[in-house]
Amino acid sequence: MPGLLSSPVCLTVIWFLSWSLRPSRAQIRTDEVSGVQFGRLESNVTLACGKSQIRTPVVWHLNRSSALPWHKLTSDGTLVLLRANHSAQGNYSCYDNRGLLLHSVKLRLGHPPGLLSISCQVPNHTHVRCSWVEAVKTFLPATYNASLRGTGQEWRPCVVDVVRKHCDVDHPAFWQTIHTLRVTETNALGSETTSVRFKLHELLKPDPPESLLVKELEGYPKRLIVSWNFPSSWPLHDAFPLIFQIRYRPQGSVYWSEVYSEESPVVIFDALAGHFHQVQVRARDEVNSESQWSEWSPLHLVRPWEVSSTPLSPENLPPEGDYPDYFFPFNSKPETSTEKSNNAALPEDEGNLGLVILLVLFSVVILTTVLSLIFVVWVRQRRRDHVTKQELTSMVKMKSMPI
Ligand SMILES: *[C@@H]1O[C@H](CO)[C@@H](O)[C@H](O)[C@H]1NC(C)=O
Ligand SMILES: *[C@@H]1O[C@H](CO)[C@@H](O)[C@H](O)[C@H]1NC(C)=O
Ligand SMILES: *[C@@H]1O[C@H](CO)[C@@H](O)[C@H](O)[C@H]1NC(C)=O
Ligand SMILES: *[C@@H]1O[C@H](CO)[C@@H](O)[C@H](O)[C@H]1NC(C)=O
Ligand SMILES: *[C@@H]1O[C@H](CO)[C@@H](O)[C@H](O)[C@H]1NC(C)=O
Repeated sequence: MPGLLSSPVCLTVIWFLSWSLRPSRAQIRTDEVSGVQFGRLESNVTLACGKSQIRTPVVWHLNRSSALPWHKLTSDGTLVLLRANHSAQGNYSCYDNRGLLLHSVKLRLGHPPGLLSISCQVPNHTHVRCSWVEAVKTFLPATYNASLRGTGQEWRPCVVDVVRKHCDVDHPAFWQTIHTLRVTETNALGSETTSVRFKLHELLKPDPPESLLVKELEGYPKRLIVSWNFPSSWPLHDAFPLIFQIRYRPQGSVYWSEVYSEESPVVIFDALAGHFHQVQVRARDEVNSESQWSEWSPLHLVRPWEVSSTPLSPENLPPEGDYPDYFFPFNSKPETSTEKSNNAALPEDEGNLGLVILLVLFSVVILTTVLSLIFVVWVRQRRRDHVTKQELTSMVKMKSMPI
């Protein structure tokens, strides 16, 4: 017999048996959960121990522990949790009196859906986005079905993003005065539909203008140039004009000054010299007076140009005609004495250049004069030499002449 037990064939059989039995033993130990059951919070929740009628007494465990919340056990082995609260959630398993697992289920508790609180955003004429929040927290996963229609029209699906809890409709019938949106929330415990009615043209609210840029204007201590871009969600088309409101104030002041414009950029002429200014811009549909202003763009902080801030040199002076006319609607003269003194430096610089040219011309003239003088002297010298030679020859001739 011991020889038989130690034979390789027998060992293999024993190993195979233990290996093939292992999964079923593990199944019993790990309380593997076969399904999920949903129940209402604060109600009596009934958990059946499997489908078939069980006559033997059963034992229930929650999360592998025999400690159970407030409950009662019926004669057929059903567990009824009384006024179940959050702490009653978990893995429930029932065993027979021999410790064999009969059934297991995961219990999740929550509420059926309630009404939703819905709000819609209309960032342009071709898009509606409606988002919602639960008025009552359900604690359970939900799905949503949403649709939109204008008065007397067909329902159109509103495409749902479950995670972010919103839905989108492209190209809504903007000419319809009143629209209805309905959203149906469904979870394991029920479903509920919420409807809202609204006027798209009253909800129209552009996104804030983008890329706001506020710059100093060199040489002008009371001016600021404000530029921005259309919101990227707004079509760049003549049919959809926007009006922009720019507001600004010296930092620390409570009073805003305002400017309206249809176009970027805009020049502020009455900034407080030497002070940081806060600047913001917002937008609204120019045609539709019932539409809403966008949110303000983020605050921009900037200080107008100052004398000391940039040392003057001919390079950083703007060339003439570099700015369009609207930069200089009142006068093209500098605004303050500090500026005057700075701009006065400009002719001085031009004068310096003139002086250099003058000097060059002068030295050319001097050089020419000196050269011509030398030439004249040289010519005269040569002529004199010639004359002396002639005199000499004539003298020789005279000497050789018979007297
Ligand atoms: C829950 O069960 C208890 C005991 O059977 C009963 O008294 C109570 O009314 C039940 N509550 C609900 C909400 O059904
Ligand atoms: C409940 O069962 C699930 C599925 O088997 C498991 O992932 C989870 O860890 C279990 N939870 C507890 C507390 O036992
Ligand atoms: C059981 O486990 C679940 C997680 O699966 C947990 O939420 C719950 O509080 C646990 N319940 C008890 C009584 O430990
Ligand atoms: C959503 O609602 C529409 C219209 O009310 C309906 O036709 C569609 O079947 C619904 N879809 C779901 C998933 O409930
Ligand atoms: C309108 O706004 C939506 C959402 O921001 C955007 O996806 C869409 O491109 C915009 N339409 C136009 C014409 O800019």
